[in-house]
Amino acid sequence: ADILTFLGLESSCDDTAAAVIRHRKGEAPEILANVVAGQEALHAAFGGVVPEIAARAHAERMDIAVEEALSASGLGLSDLDGIAVTAGPGLIGGVLAAVMCAKGLSAATGLPLVGVNHLAGHALTPRLTDGLSYPYLMLLVSGGHCQFLRVDGPESFRRLGGTIDDAPGEAFDKTAKLLGLPQPGGPNVEREAALGDPKRFVFPRPLLDRPGCDMSFSGLKTALLRARDAVIAEKGGLTVQDRRDLCAGFQLAVAAVLREKSRRALAECPDVTAFAVAGGVAANQRIRGELTALADQAGVPFVAPPLRLCTDNAAMIAWAGIERFREGHQDGLDLSARPRWPL
Ligand code: KG4
Ligand code: ZN
Repeated sequence: ADILTFLGLESSCDDTAAAVIRHRKGEAPEILANVVAGQEALHAAFGGVVPEIAARAHAERMDIAVEEALSASGLGLSDLDGIAVTAGPGLIGGVLAAVMCAKGLSAATGLPLVGVNHLAGHALTPRLTDGLSYPYLMLLVSGGHCQFLRVDGPESFRRLGGTIDDAPGEAFDKTAKLLGLPQPGGPNVEREAALGDPKRFVFPRPLLDRPGCDMSFSGLKTALLRARDAVIAEKGGLTVQDRRDLCAGFQLAVAAVLREKSRRALAECPDVTAFAVAGGVAANQRIRGELTALADQAGVPFVAPPLRLCTDNAAMIAWAGIERFREGHQDGLDLSARPRWPL
């Protein structure tokens, strides 16, 4: 079919999402609806996502998100050509909510069902937003992911490296916690860092001494804890400026690691059409600045999709579903939810 209209469903972490995308071959895809219901309020008191709470909320809200997305798009189920759903990786109870919903809809309507890898959804987003051609290099940096992917096709990814422990977003969140700043840490640490002196505290740049594109961020939070405690031991507490300087030093270390590892990843694939980023951490202006400068130096365009499509959403799942379907891929009603599913 020249025109495909897909419903996408996503519930692998703490966002219940449904979206509708229409794509005419050779033209830019159209996002007809993009509904995301976050669960921040439900988990706020626990300092992290509680899997049982997430799963229950997804199960309660998935149908509503689907109805909202269809109504926003002005379409009914009979106008669709297929249903795409995140089948993993993620919190199993959550993933199941969307998978069960998608299977029910597919069984009731006879519409094709396409299971999508959540990471593939992120990785294919620059094609949805900017029409990138294969191959391109992708850096996924969020609270849960950190990896370099060479994207050669909708089913063809090569992982060049990634974090061997924490994701950078996690490190930002832990830093905020250690300094008494509110969650999510990223935006708050960035705000403080903008007013701080990045040279006062020098944090390690882990794994820069080793070849390759692997990264490590867990040591950074230990270093931050030590630096914080040294200041407290000396002065009996942290001043506003101490906090700003700690944030600035930390952020600079993360940005420096991401820049150098991105330089190596780009050097490993000189034929790419672009360097793209996605994930919540890509919202950080300092990090974005470093990566933009690096791409300029390497002579490739730098692409960062709008934030609402960089973070978890179902538009990316509907789009990845369309791409997979065009390649002849389809799943049966035996599609299973996979908590672990490497690309
Ligand atoms: O992609 P995302 O919304 O969710 C997943 O992790 O899948 O990313 C959220 C993460 C959080 O850890 C948050 O602290 C971080 O992205 N983040 C930032 C910024 N905004 C969000 N980190 C650094 N600077 C920011 N401005
Ligand atoms: Zn994600």
